[in-house]
Amino acid sequence: MIITADAGGIRRAADLLRAGQVVAFPTETVYGLGADAFSERAVAEIYRLKNRPSWNPLIVHVADVTAARALAKQWPDLANELAAQFWPGPLTLVVERAGHLGTGTIAVRVPAHDVALKLLDASGLALAAPSANRSESISPTTAQHVLRSLPDVPMVLDGGPTRWGIESTVVDVTVDPPRLLRPGALPLRDLRQVTGSITLPDEVADGAERSSPGMSKRHYAPRARLILTDDVSSVSAPEPVAVLTYETEDVPGAEILSVDPREYAADLYAALHRLDDRGVRTIIAKNPPPTEEWLAVRDRLTRAAAS
Ligand code: TXA
Ligand code: MG
Repeated sequence: MIITADAGGIRRAADLLRAGQVVAFPTETVYGLGADAFSERAVAEIYRLKNRPSWNPLIVHVADVTAARALAKQWPDLANELAAQFWPGPLTLVVERAGHLGTGTIAVRVPAHDVALKLLDASGLALAAPSANRSESISPTTAQHVLRSLPDVPMVLDGGPTRWGIESTVVDVTVDPPRLLRPGALPLRDLRQVTGSITLPDEVADGAERSSPGMSKRHYAPRARLILTDDVSSVSAPEPVAVLTYETEDVPGAEILSVDPREYAADLYAALHRLDDRGVRTIIAKNPPPTEEWLAVRDRLTRAAAS
C-alpha cells in the first residue's frame, strides 16, 4: 500500500517499524526497504522480500553522527571529517562494528531526506535499508517503482521522486588510504577534497575479488537486454528496441538523457523502468564518456549490461 508521507503516514510507518515490520521509504538517493536494524526477524524479512543473498550486508541508516559512532568500534578522524562535510547526504561509511554488535564491519549513513529523518526520529530506531527492489533489478526512484518490484511490501511511504536517483557512494574508512567500494551519488571529486588519496575499485571487478559484497557483476539490471555501445545506430538486436542516448545526439525515437552526469544519473533508473514497462526487449545505450565524473553512471550501466 502506498501512503503519503505526511505526519500521519510517518507515524503509521514508525509504528509498523517498531512492531518489527518492513516499510519502504524515500531517501535522497533511492527508496529504501527499511526495518529495525537490530531485530533479526525484521532484517530477515528484508532479505526474504528482496530475495537478497544472505552474504550481502545492509546499510544502517541513523539520524546523526552520534548515533553512527555508537555502532562503531573505531571512529577514525577521517570518518569525522567526512561526516562533518557530507552528512546528512549520499555517503555511506564502512567502519569496524562495535563489540556489542559482533565482529567485522558495518556500513552506516545519515540520509538527507526529510521523510527519512522524520521516520528515524519517530521510530527511535536505526534502520537497515537496502534499495527497495528485488535483488539484481533496478533501484526504485519512486513509490510506484517499489510496489511494482516488491508487491508484498506492507507499506511504501510516498515522498515523491528521489533527488539523486542513484545510490550512495560507499567508502571503507577502516584502511588508510580509504577505499571506494561503490561509486555513487557523491562525486569522487568532492570526496577527494576531504580524503586526499583514495583507492579506486577496478571497474566492474567480478567474482572472488569483489571489493564490496554487493558489487557482483550483474546488478541494477532491467528486464530488457541492455547493450552498451559507442555507435547506437550500428547495433541490430531483438525487437522491440529502444535507444538510450544523450540530448546532444539526434536519434529519432530515442530515450534522451542529459549530458550532465548528475542529471543523467537522476533520470537513468526512471528511464529503464519506463522502457521495461513499454515491453522493450533490447535497450541500446550509448557509452558514457570515460571520465571520472561519469564513474557511477558507467558502473551502473556496465553492470546492467553484464549477463
Ligand atoms: O543510497 C543508498 O545507499 C541506498 C539507500 C536506500 O540508502 N541503499 C542501498 O543499499 O543502495 P544496498 O543494500 O542496495 O547497497 C548497499 C551496498 C552493497 O553493495 C553492500 O554490499 C554494501 O553497500 N555494504 C553494506 N555493508 C557493507 C560492509 N560492511 N562492508 C562493505 N560493503 C558493505
Ligand atoms: Mg541495491
